[in-house]
Amino acid sequence: MSPVDLAGRRIILANIGGEVYAVSGVCTHEETDLAMGFMLEERVVCPLHLSQFDLRTGEVLNPPATVPLTKFNVKIDGGSIFVEV
Ligand code: FES
Repeated sequence: MSPVDLAGRRIILANIGGEVYAVSGVCTHEETDLAMGFMLEERVVCPLHLSQFDLRTGEVLNPPATVPLTKFNVKIDGGSIFVEV
């Protein structure tokens, strides 16, 4: 799991089973930087109140967050990762 800043957005890139996924890196509950949290299998755990989000879809998996993360399209070409923001 790696945080990047693209076009003014904080984004998390995650390699899950060889697939690269990109979701917003800011928790939808109280705007905490999710890169300060940790990755648990295919989920990121918010460091502040421990909501979990599916890194493949952005789906929120437990409260207190109720709004999913934005998911971004990813393309890998020639060893470079492109994220559609
Ligand atoms: S700030 Fe992330 S769960 Fe509250």
